[in-house]
This record gives sequence, C-alpha cells and structure tokens, in this order.
Amino acid sequence: MKFHFKNGYLYCEKLKIKDIQDQIPESPFYLYSLTQITENYNAYQTALEGVESIIGYAIKANNNLTILKHLRELGSGAVLVSGNELRIALAAGFDPKRTVLNGNGKTISELILAAEHEVMINIDSEFDLEHVREAAREIGKVANVLIRINPDVDPEVHAYVSTGIKNSKFGIRNERLHWFLDQIQAEPLLNLVGVHCHLGSTIKKVRIFRDATILMMEFIETIRDAGFDLRYLNIGGGLGIDYEKTGESIPTPSHLIDSIRDVLTDDIGLIIEPGRSIIGNSSVLVNRVTGVKTNGNKHFIVIDGSMAELIRPSLYDAYQHIDFIEPVDGEVITYDVVGPVCESADFLGKDRALPTPHEGAGLVVYDAGAYCYAMSSNYNLKMRPPEYLVDNDRLTQIRRSETFEEHMRLFEV
Ligand code: LLP
Repeated sequence: MKFHFKNGYLYCEKLKIKDIQDQIPESPFYLYSLTQITENYNAYQTALEGVESIIGYAIKANNNLTILKHLRELGSGAVLVSGNELRIALAAGFDPKRTVLNGNGKTISELILAAEHEVMINIDSEFDLEHVREAAREIGKVANVLIRINPDVDPEVHAYVSTGIKNSKFGIRNERLHWFLDQIQAEPLLNLVGVHCHLGSTIKKVRIFRDATILMMEFIETIRDAGFDLRYLNIGGGLGIDYEKTGESIPTPSHLIDSIRDVLTDDIGLIIEPGRSIIGNSSVLVNRVTGVKTNGNKHFIVIDGSMAELIRPSLYDAYQHIDFIEPVDGEVITYDVVGPVCESADFLGKDRALPTPHEGAGLVVYDAGAYCYAMSSNYNLKMRPPEYLVDNDRLTQIRRSETFEEHMRLFEV
C-alpha cells in the first residue's frame, strides 16, 4: 500500500503526510500517490494480456489533467460522458479513436464534437440515435456507434449506483433492438462497431460481470446474424474497491477478466471502462481538526473538510475509512466526524471509534481518488481545495485551490 504508517505517522510513498500538511497553506487538500495509480492501471493491463482490448479510463471518476496525462502515457483510452470531458481528454493527448462517449442525454453539439473526432458513440435511446444521425449528417462523416443494452443483471449495490437493471434510465429497451438495427442499416453514416453495457458501480462479485458477459455475447450473435460486423464488446466499468478495510477480499482486475475469459471469442475485442478501481485508492483527503464537541449523547470531531469536498458519505451513506495522520492518544470514544457545512447531512464518517484529538490534528479520509474531487461543490461558498501528487519522495501541486476572488468574477457580467 502506498499509504502506510511508520512510527505512528501516515506516509504517502516516502513522504510523511504531517510534513506535507505543515508546508501547505490550505486545508483540506487532496493528496495522490502516482505509484498507486500506475499499479492500478498495470493490474488491468496484466489482467488483459492475450485479449484484444481497450482500457477506457472513466474520466468522470477523476478529471485532474496531470492524472489524465499519466494514464494516457501508460496506454489508457478514455470513457467520456460530456463534451467537456472530450475536450479535456484531447488536451491530455488521448487518441479520440480509443475513446467512447456515453450518456442518456448527449446534446447535438456534444455529438458533433464527438463525431468530428471519431469518438465511438454509445446509442442510448431512439431519440439519441436520431441525434447521432443528425450530427453525422451535419458534418458529413461516418459515426462509429455502439448500442447500449440493458442486460437487466442486478449488480447488488446501492440503488444510486445501479445502472444495468430494467428500470434504469440508461440503455435501449431490448425488445426494440431490431428497430435500432434497421435504422443503422438504412443510414450509411452510422457504422455499428459494438455493444455496450454498464451494470453499476462498487461491484464486489465477478459472477455479476460473467452473467452479463454471457448475455451480451448472445446479443452479439443476434446482431451478427442480422448482418453486422461487430468489433467490440464493451462491458463497462464498476469493479469495487476496499473502502471498508476489514480484510474482506475484493476481486482484482485479474479475477474479473479471468471470470469472463472463456466466454469471450477471438473475433471480438473487449472494451472495459474502469474508473474507481484505477483511481479510488490513490488519494486521501487531508483535513485538520477544528474542535471536538458533544451534545451529551453524541460526540463529534469537527474538521475543516466537509460534504462540499467529499459528498459520498452524505449522498450514498458510503463508508470511507478515517484515520489520524499522527499519533493521537486521547480517550477512544465513538465519534461522528463532521464538517462545518450548515446541514445535518454533512458528515464524513459516523460512529467511528477514534482517540480524542487535539485541535489542529491531521485526519484523512481514505479512498478519495474517485468521485470525490469530481463531485465537489461550492456549497456554503467553500472553495474547492488544491490537489497534490507524490511520486516516491517528490511532491508536486497538480491543481491549485479555487479562490474567492475568482468566484466573485463570475458576477462580472
Ligand atoms: N462506464 C459507465 C457507463 C459509467 O456510468 C460508469 C460510472 C463507469 C463506466 C465507471 O464506473 P466505475 O468503474 O468507476 O465504478 N458517484 C458514484 C459512482 C457513480 C458511477 C457512475 N457510473 C460514487 O461515488 O460511488
């Protein structure tokens, strides 16, 4: 693990996080381990040896430009959900032909941008097909498309991150598949290259991916029988990570790929869209304790980080592990770790047995790499924090904090 304790202090690679905290003016801040990101990416690459494939990193999980450039240098493709994600992917140097644009509400201008750059586009509905066709005609260029199928496999995760079940807003109605095929066949500017599904996120059972892959291979057969030459099966992302740190064994990319290897055939390339499992455990949010209080029944550690910087616990009741970065020897009490935001939903952790800290003590929320900075807000006019990266014993800033002055400029209209 790139985050580890030595003599009571938490380290990120070779650097003591307390020393970093003492030299950085802002709090909280995000801290990333470059080596962890590299290892996570390499785990997919190793798992996929012998399989023709594209690893499409899901930019929505974390869109820091330095991190994107690093993943691109490692050989990653990218998975996009907006025109701006395509723009940042281009800025990071990704080959757009190895990217996929997903989404149930892509706008015509986003589709035109994607088609211009030869991004593969996922068709999500009847109107989406019409919009892709319109975009392709507008620029007079063939659009490479996939059909997003809803395999109706339950990923057994929180309802908010479950996407591949029948009642989801994503994907086509499978009974209408032949309508989509007819439309594509009749339009020379639409080139069907594959099928896509995404089951959900934080998935901990590879059996779920296997079930979906078997179903998707049946769809591929049906579509090939209708006369299409499909190149890709895109099985989406969704592999979970070890948020709880209880010693539970979490499947690795190798477990995932090995579980579907015998279902795949040589004549189909695999696209996989991992976000969380590439970036999630590479970062911690580093905070300072503002104070400790009690209401008689409950005890609270109040920190300077909040739901504005890290909303997953508030939004999904998600567990993210919390620890001090330095020795703290006060009495161990069951605490809620909360932020300063004026809202009861503002908590980072509930019912945690932690030693009572002194004011100013450093506290981290682990596994903050995926869907944390990316989902941050300015609620209560908190400015987004800076991001720092550790590579072995070297610290670099990879995003500066937002400032109040920048914020005020938005009103200069
Ligand atoms: N592909 C598609 C089509 C997706 O919708 C997603 C995530 C991914 C790939 C990447 O999934 P991952 O490997 O990261 O699980 N904000 C939530 C997660 C929402 C994920 C939505 N889709 C969270 O913080 O848990």
